[in-house]
Amino acid sequence: MKTTPFSLQFFLSLALVLGGVKPDPDPLQDYCISDTKIPNFFFINGEPCLNPTLAKSSQFVTSALSNKGNTNNPFGFNVTLTNTDNLPGANTQGLTMARIDLAPFGVVPPHSHPRASELTTCLQGTILVGFVTTSNRLFTQQLRPGDSFVFPKALVHFLFNVDPTGPALAVSGLSSQNPGAQIASLATFATNPAMPDEVLKKAFQITGQELAKIRKNLGG
Ligand SMILES: *[C@@H]1O[C@H](CO)[C@@H](O)[C@H](O)[C@H]1NC(C)=O
Repeated sequence: MKTTPFSLQFFLSLALVLGGVKPDPDPLQDYCISDTKIPNFFFINGEPCLNPTLAKSSQFVTSALSNKGNTNNPFGFNVTLTNTDNLPGANTQGLTMARIDLAPFGVVPPHSHPRASELTTCLQGTILVGFVTTSNRLFTQQLRPGDSFVFPKALVHFLFNVDPTGPALAVSGLSSQNPGAQIASLATFATNPAMPDEVLKKAFQITGQELAKIRKNLGG
């Protein structure tokens, strides 16, 4: 039997790997500071660039992550993100930072980022993190301050503050300037307009009453 040459195998797997985890497009210049004054008459991939001669150091700095987010909501979490508004110099650089505040027993419910992988670092408290593969295998770890954990691109993941008495804090780096986020429960039970009852009843094997209760709990 003829075997595939190693070089061919190598290039085939390289193509698979590269095709599967494409980052944001590379910048074509040193920087492309987001010009927030240009009205959105047309849509481009990213934000239009400010004239480079108008660049200032202050466009590369932000204090957006310095303040604790308000975790007074049913899930008990708040995510604060850098973006092209609060950090215009990050436009086209392919990254976002996130500050994640968790109330006691607070959870960032299972969600995914369609355009980014995420590396999270626990700064305060004890955080149970986990992600689910496309084969529904669950990987979990308990993080203490200084520990970091990777959520692979687009996979469903969560963070949970296991301490019922104190808050927890984490920061994350994400590999896109616009990672996107879909919270699984809201993307099914709190859509606009509502997903048809028959779809949800069948998909989750629940009654109309149970569906109404879940919808109400999630503000759908
Ligand atoms: C997150 O915190 C900010 C700042 O305190 C607040 O304006 C926002 O409403 C909070 N978001 C949620 C979902 O609670």
